[in-house]
Amino acid sequence: MVIFERQSDLKSHLESIVTAKTTVGFVPTMGALHAGHLSLIEQSLTDNDITVMSIFVNPTQFNNPDDLKKYPRTLEKDVEKIKTVSDAVIIYAPTVDDIYNGKTESESFNFDGLENQMEGRHRPGHFDGVGTIVKRLFEIVKPTNSYFGEKDFQQLQIVKKLVSKYQIPVRIIGRPIFREPNGLAMSSRNERLTPEEKQKAAVIFSTLQHAKKMFGTKSVNEVAKYVDKLFQKQKDFKLEYFEIADESTLLPIIRKSKNKKYRAFIAVFVNDIRLIDTISFN
Ligand code: PAF
Repeated sequence: MVIFERQSDLKSHLESIVTAKTTVGFVPTMGALHAGHLSLIEQSLTDNDITVMSIFVNPTQFNNPDDLKKYPRTLEKDVEKIKTVSDAVIIYAPTVDDIYNGKTESESFNFDGLENQMEGRHRPGHFDGVGTIVKRLFEIVKPTNSYFGEKDFQQLQIVKKLVSKYQIPVRIIGRPIFREPNGLAMSSRNERLTPEEKQKAAVIFSTLQHAKKMFGTKSVNEVAKYVDKLFQKQKDFKLEYFEIADESTLLPIIRKSKNKKYRAFIAVFVNDIRLIDTISFN
């Protein structure tokens, strides 16, 4: 297993092994790896000659300094987990300076409005940070294919928009959410939950499943009211948003239309830990 801390070393290594015919798979992460991340590596190893994974807690995408401070950083454990899948993964775990060179700031992006919905509305600057780091990482790694989890579905759509706007020659592949046995979507932030909170957080996915059932017969308003009421009764939870949106534009739906794909999105605070989840309604 090779681990690079500096982009210059990673680039030299890649230059020495990549030819015009080599396919490079890339899995960008912020570490605290779980089974969902490992499945992205497996997919990349299946599809490509070489797999690179980055582990970098990107400061510019955190709108809340406390969230950045508390974000789990578990590099040694992460490396052990990657080894259980394969020894052949190339790891890039840079310092903030290696990426930002003393200027830890985001570029500003226009993702045709995708950035103004849900996460973008509640986390100002978040998608400028994501766009900045993903674009930089693509420039360093130059991947053929890159893999993203569907839990961050809005991020996935934004990364697709980024590569089409900037004509970056990489195929973006979204992969399904991995869940705990109780339905909770796997997330690095789950590491911060107590066992009791983890158990209780099952309500997030069960609510989405119930909302999906209701969507068949009830209005959008009725579904949203049900979710609102349900979370008002949960003492340790605070609902930040629940939205049913068009999968491609991410715009909230007003009225159902048959030929469109819809998806529900939710963000909930469990005490001070913010969790998101999503479910397809089709
Ligand atoms: O999804 C994540 O872990 C991050 O947003 C990403 C894509 C690695 C960028 O920092």
